[in-house]
Amino acid sequence: MNQILDEQAPATAIQRADYSAPAWWVDSVDLCFDLDPIKTRVLNKMKLRRNTDLPVQALRLDGEELNLARVLVNGQGSTFKMDGNQLVLSNLPDECELEIFTTTCPSKNTKLMGLYVSNDSFFTQCEAEGFRRITYFLDRPDVMAMYSVTLRADKAKYPVLLSNGNLVDSGDLEGGRHFAKWVDPHKKPCYLFALVAGQLVCREQRITTRAGKDHTLQIYVRSGDLDKTEHAMNSLIHSVAWDEARFGLPLDLERFMIVATSDFNMGAMENKGLNIFNTKYVLASQATATDVDFSNIESVVGHEYFHNWTGNRITCRDWFQLSLKEGLTVFRDQEFSTDLAGTASARAVKRIEDVRVLRTNQFPEDAGPMAHPVRPDSYVEISNFYTVTIYEKGAEVVRMYQTLVGRAGFEKGITLYFERHDGNAVTCDDFAQAIADANPSSVLPSLLPQFKRWYSQAGTPRVSAQGVFDAASQTYTLTFSQHCAATPGQTEKLPFVIPVVLGLLDANGNDLPLQLEGQDEIHTGSQRLVLTEASQSFCFTGVNAEPVPSILRGLSAPVVLAFDYSDAQLLHLLAHDSDPFNRWEAGQRLAVNRATAAINDSSANPAALDAAYIDAMRAVLRHPTLDAAFKELVLTLPSEVYLAEQLTVVDPQRVHTVRQAMREQLAIELKADWETTYAATQETGAYTPDAVSSGKRALCGMALTHLCLAAVAEGNDQWPAIALQRFKNASNMTDRFNALSALVGSGHALAIPALEEFHALFKNEALVLDKWFALQVTAPDVGGNTLPNVKKLMKHSDFSLRNPNRARSVISSYCQANPAGFHRLDAAGYQFWSERVLELDAINPQVAARLARALDRWSKLAEPYRTNARQAIARVAAKSGLSKDTQEVVTRALA
Ligand code: ARG
Ligand code: ZN
Repeated sequence: MNQILDEQAPATAIQRADYSAPAWWVDSVDLCFDLDPIKTRVLNKMKLRRNTDLPVQALRLDGEELNLARVLVNGQGSTFKMDGNQLVLSNLPDECELEIFTTTCPSKNTKLMGLYVSNDSFFTQCEAEGFRRITYFLDRPDVMAMYSVTLRADKAKYPVLLSNGNLVDSGDLEGGRHFAKWVDPHKKPCYLFALVAGQLVCREQRITTRAGKDHTLQIYVRSGDLDKTEHAMNSLIHSVAWDEARFGLPLDLERFMIVATSDFNMGAMENKGLNIFNTKYVLASQATATDVDFSNIESVVGHEYFHNWTGNRITCRDWFQLSLKEGLTVFRDQEFSTDLAGTASARAVKRIEDVRVLRTNQFPEDAGPMAHPVRPDSYVEISNFYTVTIYEKGAEVVRMYQTLVGRAGFEKGITLYFERHDGNAVTCDDFAQAIADANPSSVLPSLLPQFKRWYSQAGTPRVSAQGVFDAASQTYTLTFSQHCAATPGQTEKLPFVIPVVLGLLDANGNDLPLQLEGQDEIHTGSQRLVLTEASQSFCFTGVNAEPVPSILRGLSAPVVLAFDYSDAQLLHLLAHDSDPFNRWEAGQRLAVNRATAAINDSSANPAALDAAYIDAMRAVLRHPTLDAAFKELVLTLPSEVYLAEQLTVVDPQRVHTVRQAMREQLAIELKADWETTYAATQETGAYTPDAVSSGKRALCGMALTHLCLAAVAEGNDQWPAIALQRFKNASNMTDRFNALSALVGSGHALAIPALEEFHALFKNEALVLDKWFALQVTAPDVGGNTLPNVKKLMKHSDFSLRNPNRARSVISSYCQANPAGFHRLDAAGYQFWSERVLELDAINPQVAARLARALDRWSKLAEPYRTNARQAIARVAAKSGLSKDTQEVVTRALA
C-alpha cells in the first residue's frame, strides 16, 4: 500500500507540554537492505518490550512514503491497522519480535530525507524524522536500540557498503552482488542511523590517542576528490585530540568515518561512527577552496565529531530539547576553533566572527515572526527549528554558564553531566542542573531558576546603561535596565540573568582597577557583574576622573547594549580598549551612528563619513602592531542586514545607497593607505590556511576591492587591470576569488572576461561553480540588471534546482544576500521569490522553507515594499498542497 499524505490537512502543532514516555521500547533492530535505486527492500526485525510504567497501549509505528509488504509478530502473520501515517498493532504480548518488510524508491526521493540516491550512490539522512521514510519505527530520540545492519547490493556499482559501528562480515553473493554486515556496539536513537553505498575512495589515517587506544579514521569521497581531503583529516585528528585534552572525552569507536555527498540539505550529520557531510564542508585544496572554506571545514568536522559525546552518548529526550545537543556542540566547536587559532588576537577575531553571525542572523530571527525560545514550546515541522536560535543563541546560553562558573567549573559541570546521563536521552533542565550542581559555591545554583528563562523566553533583551561620575565622592555609577520586546505568543517577559563583563578606561586608555562600593575585592582589568533585575546600579569607588566604560566585553551575553556613547568615547575605545572585541565594537558603533543618521535623513548626502571617522580608520590601517585579520574586521562596515535591524522602518534601497556611498568614500579617501596595505599584504608565501596568513589575504582582498571601487568612481583603469592580473596569476583560490570579486563588485567591464575565464578553469568543480553563481547574483544591481541575470543563470547548463547547494547559490544568494537587487520597486524580486518557493516546495520542502524565510522581516519594510512583500507571502500561503515546512513559515509570517 502506498502512503499518500492528505495534502489538505491543516498542519497540527506538536506541544512540548504533551510529552509522554514511549509506550514501547525497542531493544534491538536487525535491518537488512537489498539496495536498488528503483526498489529497495528493507527487512526490519525488532525486539520490542512494553513500557510497563505506563498503562497498556497499542504500538504505533511511524512511516512515510513506504510500501508495506508484510508484518509478522513472533514469526506469525498479524493484523494491524493504519491510522494516517502510523502502523498500529494492538494486543501484542509484552515482549515480542516484530518483523516488517517494506520497499522504497530512493531514486525518486528528492526531499533528501531517508534513503536517497546522489551521483549513483546511496546515502541516508535521518535527523530529525527521516528514519520513518526507511522503515516503520518508533521515530523519536528517546527510543534507543542496538543495531545490526546487513547491506546487499550490486558489487560493481556499489563496491563500498557502510553503516554505523564495526564491519563484522562481508562477502560475495550470486548474480554479481555482495554484502556487508555492520554491528554498532553503542545503542542509539534511530535519527543516528546511517548507511552509504557506492563507488567511493577513502583517505585513511590510524591514530593512537592519549588513552593509548588505536583508531582508524576514514574520509570517503568520489574518486578524483581524494586530494581534497587532507585538511578535513587534519581537522578530524585535531578534534579528537582537543576533546580529550579539554573535556577528557575520548573517541569511543574503533573506526570513525566521514562520507561526503554533493546532495545534502544542511551542513553535515553526526550519525554514530558514520558522519555524512555536504561536500562543501569536506573538500578543500588551495586551488579550489578559500580560507573561509578551510575554516568552515575545521569547524564543521569538529562540530560533528564533538556530537559523538554531546548528542550521541547523551541525546535529546524529545526534539524540543534540540539545543541541548546543538547549542552545546556549537559552543564546543567555537571553543575548538578558538583554541586552534592560537594568539590572543586570533582568538578575538574568531569571537568577532561568531558574534557577527549571531547578530546578523539570530537577532533578526528573534525579532521576527519565527522567533522562538531556545527550547521551543511547539512546532509544526521540526525541520524548521534547525535555526540560528537553537544553534547560535543556544551556544551563547552555554557560553554564559562558562562565564558564570569559570572555565574549570564548566569542565567540572560537563564531567558531572556525563556521570549522570551517559547513555540516556535527557532535557535542557538536566544539563543546567549538572552544571549548577558541579559548582555549588558559584553564583549559578541560586540563579538557576531565573537563568533558565534563557530557555523559555524568546527575543533579544535590550540592556540600557547609563554612567554617572561624581567627582566629589570619586565614584562612577553604572545603572542598567533590561527590557525584552514581545515575541509571537509571549507578550510579557521577566528579567533575564545577564552576565556583564566590563572595564573602565582612564584618559590614557588603561583599565582602571575596579572596586565596587562596600566590597574589598579589587579587580584589575575586567570584572563580571550579573544583572538579575529590571533595573539595577553598580557604584565603583576610587575613580578620580570620568572613565570611559567598556561594557559587555566579548559580548558576554546575547543582548543589545544601548549606551549613549559620544564620538570621543568611541574613538577612545577604538584606540585603546584592552578587550579587542569591544575595540572592534566601538568602530562598528561609529559606523552605525553615521549610517543610520544618513539613512533617516533622506535629504542628506549619503556620503556620511566625517574626517574623524576616516582618520580613525586610517589609524587602524596604519597601526604597526594590530593583526591584518583584525584590521579587516574593523574596516568592514556593518552589513545592510545589521543596519536594517537598527531602523524602525526599512527602505532597503536607501540602506544600500548609504552603505555603498560610505564604502566609496573609504575607498577614495584612504586610497594611499589601501595602496600601502595592498603592497604590504600581497605576498604570504607558500599557502597555508592559518589565522595569520588568511588574515593577510583577507586584508589584501579588501584593499584591492577598495582600490577597484575608487578606480571606477574616478574613471581610472589601473587597479582593475592589476586585479585582472592577480586573478590570472593567483596561486590559491582565496586570492583568485578576491580579485574576481573586486572586479565584479566594482562593476568594471573587465569582470566579464574574468568570469568567463573562471568558469572555464573550474567547470568540473561543483563547489567552485557554486561560488561563480553566487558572486554574479550578489553583484551590484546596476539598472535593475540582477534579476534578469539570475533568470539567465537559471537557464545555464550547470544550473540545477534539485541540487540544494546549486539552488541556494543562485536563488537564496539573490533573495537573501543582495537586498538592493531583491527589494525592487516593481516587486519583481518578490514575484520571483514566490515562484521559486513553490517550485522548490514540490521537490524539497526543507530547501523551500529556508528560502521562504527570506521575507521574514517584511513588516519592517517601508511602502511599497511592505505591501508587495506581504502579497507575495500570501500568494505562497494560498497554494494548496503546500508542505508542512513551507506552510508553517508563511503562516507565521502572515500571523
Ligand atoms: N545534527 C546536524 C548538525 O547540526 C543537523 C542535521 C539536521 N538535518 C536536517 N535535515 N534537519 O550537525
Ligand atoms: Zn549539530
